[in-house]
Amino acid sequence: MAILLTGGAGFIGSHTSIELNKAGYEVVLVDDFSNSSPEVLNRLESITGQKFPFYEGSILDKDFLRGVFEKHQIDAVIHFAAFKAVGESVSEPLKYYHNNITGTISLLEVMKEKGVKNIVFSSSATVYGMNNVSPLTEDLPTSATNPYGYTKVMMEQILMDVVASDPEWSVTLLRYFNPIGAHESGLIGEAPNGIPNNLMPYITQVAVGKLAELSVFGDDYDTPDGTGVRDYIHVVDLANGHSLALKHNLEQVGTQIFNLGTGNGYSVLDLVKAFEAENQVAVPYVIKERRPGDIATCYADASKAKEILGWTAQKDLHDMMRDSWKWQSQNPNGYDA
Ligand code: UFG
Repeated sequence: MAILLTGGAGFIGSHTSIELNKAGYEVVLVDDFSNSSPEVLNRLESITGQKFPFYEGSILDKDFLRGVFEKHQIDAVIHFAAFKAVGESVSEPLKYYHNNITGTISLLEVMKEKGVKNIVFSSSATVYGMNNVSPLTEDLPTSATNPYGYTKVMMEQILMDVVASDPEWSVTLLRYFNPIGAHESGLIGEAPNGIPNNLMPYITQVAVGKLAELSVFGDDYDTPDGTGVRDYIHVVDLANGHSLALKHNLEQVGTQIFNLGTGNGYSVLDLVKAFEAENQVAVPYVIKERRPGDIATCYADASKAKEILGWTAQKDLHDMMRDSWKWQSQNPNGYDA
């Protein structure tokens, strides 16, 4: 059974391709390398001993996509390809709406043409917006506070509307919490362009000496230590969640929505301390102003994925801190030599 992964060379796509391969699926990868590196493909080959079919191109290019569907008998798509930097989405909203929304429509149009009606979509806890209270359940109303978040809300809506128009479709919306960690080999991991926006790659780049110190954005939130609390999840657990969600997607029709989180919240300073203790490396930090748009606390109610998919996160904070550091320390410049 062949599964097409858009954004297959990215952080979550690359880890998911390994778990799908282990589960017996044939994987076909598409990526335009706008936020990933061709070196990922060599690393995947080292890990799995296999060369996955790969096509370089954009999901905005329908002829390119048609070509991929004509070369392979695709049974389902896992759609990762999207821009994801919140700050950049505020300064370049049209770039985000075009790439994420037009790209998704282009993909869905080609899927429809080719009669492929199974899709698992990379959504985000960002769709819970500012006003819902954690633990977050899938039935809460969605909203957003920035263009990136709105693209996720809209892409979810588009997918649900496609199902409403044709009951043969099977759509699974996976709402990720905060993916961190890396494959245990240390060969693949998160390699952001430029200065990282997210906490974990910032911490590892301070630890490896590329950045001087971490800025902790606010210590006056209503949380145990005043810093923001999030639900960090190991990327390999997240990848396994995709494998189980795909199996379920292939067995049914309609829309299913699942949180992929651990259900545990850790603060910024919890992460800094856990990282230092696990890896015996110092992470100097300074307290700064709150970052606009941040909320105090965000963690999942992860019970629905457990009940319906039989999925729970297996890895703990120690694993996340160890594997994040293994990746960064073995690859101080990410995939660049
Ligand atoms: N933080 C810092 N310093 C930094 C970076 C982050 O203190 O340099 C803090 C933030 O204020 C927040 C926590 O670390 O309290 C986590 O921040 P991240 O940027 O790593 O993650 P967010 O929770 O803000 O956002 C992430 C993804 C979004 C996604 C969202 C879903 O980046 O794409 O989770 O909740 F939408």
